[in-house]
Amino acid sequence: MCGIFGYIGSRKDAGKVVVEGLKNLEYRGYDSWGVAWKSNGSVSVRKDIGKISDVRSEDFSDECSLAIAHTRWATHGGVTKLNAHPHTSCDKQIAVIHNGIVENYEDLRRDLAAKGHTFVSQTDTEIIPHLIEEEMKTTKDFAAAVRAACLKIHGRFAVVAIHAASAMLVAARNGSPLIVGVKRGKGEHAPALSGVEGYFIASDIPAFLDQTRTVQYLDDGEMLVSDGKSIFFSDIRTGEERPKREIEIQWTQQQAEKGAFEHYMLKEIMDQKESVARAVNQDDAQIMTLAKAIREAQGTFLVGCGTAAKACLAAEYFFSVIAETHVNVAPASEFKLFHHFLKPESLLIVVSQSGETADVLEAMRVAKSAGSKVLAIVNNEGSTIAREADYALRINAGPERAVASTKALTGQLAVFLLIAYALAGKLQEGKTLLLETSAAINDLLNPRYIERLKTLAEKISAKRDIFIIGKSWNYPMALESAIKIQEVSYIHAEGFAGGELKHGPIALIEEGTPCIALIGKDEVEGDSISNAIELKSRGGYIIGISPERSDAFDEWIRVPDATAAQAIVNIIPIQVLAYFLAVSRGKNPDMPRNLAKSVTVK
Ligand code: M6R
Repeated sequence: MCGIFGYIGSRKDAGKVVVEGLKNLEYRGYDSWGVAWKSNGSVSVRKDIGKISDVRSEDFSDECSLAIAHTRWATHGGVTKLNAHPHTSCDKQIAVIHNGIVENYEDLRRDLAAKGHTFVSQTDTEIIPHLIEEEMKTTKDFAAAVRAACLKIHGRFAVVAIHAASAMLVAARNGSPLIVGVKRGKGEHAPALSGVEGYFIASDIPAFLDQTRTVQYLDDGEMLVSDGKSIFFSDIRTGEERPKREIEIQWTQQQAEKGAFEHYMLKEIMDQKESVARAVNQDDAQIMTLAKAIREAQGTFLVGCGTAAKACLAAEYFFSVIAETHVNVAPASEFKLFHHFLKPESLLIVVSQSGETADVLEAMRVAKSAGSKVLAIVNNEGSTIAREADYALRINAGPERAVASTKALTGQLAVFLLIAYALAGKLQEGKTLLLETSAAINDLLNPRYIERLKTLAEKISAKRDIFIIGKSWNYPMALESAIKIQEVSYIHAEGFAGGELKHGPIALIEEGTPCIALIGKDEVEGDSISNAIELKSRGGYIIGISPERSDAFDEWIRVPDATAAQAIVNIIPIQVLAYFLAVSRGKNPDMPRNLAKSVTVK
């Protein structure tokens, strides 16, 4: 939700550097973009509506070593050039980019207007450069002015600011991610005495993976000041230094690129040939400890948002069927209403690909204030959720950049299955099943299979509605299928528990309505086929995703029999189908309208 990228260092082409970096962050927002850079003692700004991918970095040729850039996902104010970041102060000396929401912006704006400040946009962000400008009337120190301004802002934020008269880049964080990439100099750009060629300040690690894998994490309530040769971290409130370690991260640039694929979504679907096995590669002792924590907890709650919430719902079935263990599931955005049931002995399990989702962070804070323990199942290295949780399990999917979550989901499902098997005292059996499933996915994702799904997508892409049914763990996968199809193709899709249809939704079925039935060879297989026949009798065009053919199906999409891991294999053809539904309707599946990859506002 908005991408931030800043650079300060010894390079003289900072404008170009930040435009290139911002292109790696476009998945965080693509309403509009903007760049500010400092050269010859003044700050220049260029911004526009549209996609940063359409901008040529060579056009930013001013010699400069300090620049900031932003790609926007609109919250306050429509998608206009004036509302795009960076925003500037009245004297145009200060430029600011921002992620988050200034909750008290109306009060601040009124006060600033009374002091003579004029505003040109409808955004909450614009008050920040004016606040800094106001503070600079009492302190000439730019960093001190940014600190004072941040103390007046209510709400979650990540802010990066530059000033025409200062050689510093100043950034602050409270609730929205900001990560520093540290590049040691050994190449064409002369390093400083410290050995540092420059610092990259970004919302996410993939933004600077082509430059460095050495990172420093800014925590909530902290700020940083850098002159490009060194960096100083401090507490926003007290000003006290906060020493930071440098951490080498595991992700590689190659993992973050789409390579020969036309879209990240398809690349990430295909990554599942290996990513499920990576999710399974967990430390047995740690999984057993977590299983014990669930067994001993007085109330285990699973929360996530969107696709991650569907992984939680599937886990409810895994824990029940495999381990006869009860857990409570809620969308993270609803969780605070259940705080009465939290005790210090309760356990909250949060699931998040990005590790930055605002509603999930709020759920964690609710649990922590009740003294409960929090386990996070995350993908992004070093994310806020991973760092704030008591324990974190990584799904090791590698960077996921398409807005539609694919390989993260199957990794989450694999980790939940491992824990369920561990709870049942059968961890090795679970591991074997998952590794066999991973091998089966590798076979499944072959060119003929992909082509078959492409043809099916082309056949149904003009339909108004698609319905998906499933029972047991295929029910959450039916809900997930609907999300996948909706978000990238904009076709109306809805998922149901198979048995629920005859209680209302079946009235929606017309002659030829595509109905997808997700089925496994399990105790509910017969019921699921009956549900498909009910739809067929009302004219539904039945697409069966199942290990076995049935007369109920008009089209059969074969999947391997994966027993308890069926949810993992059944969702994969749906991901491919959703991808081709988008493509055949002329939509870009990597950039669905109105959405952003990481939802850092509530
Ligand atoms: O990063 P998270 O896993 O916390 O994100 C949660 C949802 O925003 C995300 O799964 C969303 O629903 C996806 N766009 C679905 O494909």
